[in-house]
Amino acid sequence: MTKKQLRESSDYLKSKGFESPEIGIVLGTGLGKLVDYIESPKIAHYHNIPFFPLATVEFHSGKLIYGTLENKKVVVMLGRFHVYEGYEFDDVTYPIRVMRELGIKKLFISNAAGAINLNFNKGDIMLIEDHINLQGGSPLAFKNVANFGVRFVDMSQPYDHDMGRKIKDIAQRESITLHEGVYASVIGPQLETKAEYRMLKTIGADAVGMSTVPEVIVANHLGLPVVAVSVLTDECDPDNLKPVHIDEIIKVAGETEPKMITLFMELIKEL
Ligand code: HPA
Repeated sequence: MTKKQLRESSDYLKSKGFESPEIGIVLGTGLGKLVDYIESPKIAHYHNIPFFPLATVEFHSGKLIYGTLENKKVVVMLGRFHVYEGYEFDDVTYPIRVMRELGIKKLFISNAAGAINLNFNKGDIMLIEDHINLQGGSPLAFKNVANFGVRFVDMSQPYDHDMGRKIKDIAQRESITLHEGVYASVIGPQLETKAEYRMLKTIGADAVGMSTVPEVIVANHLGLPVVAVSVLTDECDPDNLKPVHIDEIIKVAGETEPKMITLFMELIKEL
């Protein structure tokens, strides 16, 4: 990755009308319907954007959508890149840097995750207040990172407090159950064993998934305030573990999605 590549990616998008978005939004697995609310949408398929990685997993259609949501200009990533698809960390996070290059001032992230905290139920939403990186690597571990910002990025407060506060108020007002907790990010794509769920609980995780943390690290590198929510799609009880199927995860994500959409749309109004 070079600065020139980032500029070419963003110049291409600007030429397609992606002018000065304020907010970037990354939508997780099974969580794409927010884009139906975008007014005057402009679409750029990943395979047409210079230097963009290519989407591989079939339920990710792989496009950036630009337009207006609640009177604010947004750019939405429909389909993200995962390390489990064989991408490098800098591929996974490249779109975040491009959205920053386009000018976004805030980043929203959603994902589908398993509930480790058994006080949480599937179909609930968790505001990520902190995370544990178990992906075994960093999107900042590359030679010329110093050209892009500091190397030793502070992570004492990786998630923006102000947007978190607002989203909690919105949840209360809208009667949406919103937990707060720690998200552990693994590579996958296999789901976890019972022993792994026990370990995740022991080390302080409330939810587990296969994304988000690389993007959040890069957002912090860019000084970009980020808010992230997990849609809890299954309950990871090691003492009573039933097989989990990806179709079920996607189904629960879809059923829970309207609550996530409300949280994000209301938050956009308040920014
Ligand atoms: N692990 C367990 N359950 C899940 C995950 C995961 O990574 N993602 C969604 N549900």
